[in-house]
Amino acid sequence: MSARPTYTPALGLRVLTPFYDAAIAAFTRARTWRPHLVRQIAPQGGMRIVDIGCGTGTLTRALKRAAPGATVIGVDPDAQVLAKARLRAIAAGAEVTYVKGFFDDDFIAAHGPFAAVTISLVLHQVPLEGKAAILRSAFRSLAPSGRLHIADYGVQPGRLMRFAFRNTVQRIDGFEDTEHNARGVLPDLMHEAGFDNVKETALFPTPSGAITLFQAEKHITGELP
Ligand SMILES: C[S@@+](CC[C@H](N)C(=O)[O-])C[C@H]1O[C@@H](n2cnc3c(N)ncnc32)[C@H](O)[C@@H]1O
Repeated sequence: MSARPTYTPALGLRVLTPFYDAAIAAFTRARTWRPHLVRQIAPQGGMRIVDIGCGTGTLTRALKRAAPGATVIGVDPDAQVLAKARLRAIAAGAEVTYVKGFFDDDFIAAHGPFAAVTISLVLHQVPLEGKAAILRSAFRSLAPSGRLHIADYGVQPGRLMRFAFRNTVQRIDGFEDTEHNARGVLPDLMHEAGFDNVKETALFPTPSGAITLFQAEKHITGELP
C-alpha cells in the first residue's frame, strides 16, 4: 500500500513554511546531526539515493556535494517547499532531481531501485499506518543490500528531552502522530517492513527533543512483504 494522499506541511502549518529552514537550524541543531547522517549514508558516485519528504532540499544538496557522481532524487508532496529546493539547488550548482508527489509505487517504478533511501524529520508527522506504508515502500524500492537511513524524533531520554519534545514538536505537529515515535515505534515498523540489522546509530539532544539516527538493511532478495 502507498502513503496516504494527505500530509502535514513542513512546520505543521502552511503559513510557517517560509520560516522552515531557520526554525530547523535553531530548534533541531541540524548542523550537528545532518552531517552525521550524510556520513552514515556515505554517498558515492554511481549510487542512486532518494530522500523521502525532502522539504527544502538541504539533505539532497549535502549528498550531492559529498558525491557529485551520485544520482540524488528528492520527493515531497508540497509544491511550496519543492520550489525552494529547486531554486537552492540551482544556486548551489547541485544537479538534484525533485519530484512532487508521494513516495508510492508509481514513483518507485519510474525512479527506483535505490542503493539508499533516506527519510529525515518526516515520520513523526505521519499517522501510524502512513509510517508503516512509507517504510514498506522504502523496502520495496531498495536494491538487494540497499540501506535505509532515518533521522527523526524517537524515544525521548530523560525529563528534559521529554519536556522539550512535548512543548515544541508535539504542540506544532499534534500529539497523536508524534507520540508513536516517542514510544519507540520506528524500529518495530522497520522490522515489520522487512528490514534487517535495524540499529540506532546516534542520538542528538536538541531544543525540540532528542533526534535519533537509524540505519537498516534490505537483505532478502525473495518474496516482498
Ligand atoms: C519537517 S519536513 C522535513 C523536511 C526535510 N526532510 C528535512 O529534513 O528538513 C517534513 C516534510 O515531509 C513532507 N511529508 C509529509 N508527509 C509526507 C508523506 N506522507 N510522504 C512524503 N513526504 C511527506 C512534508 O511535505 C515536508 O516537506
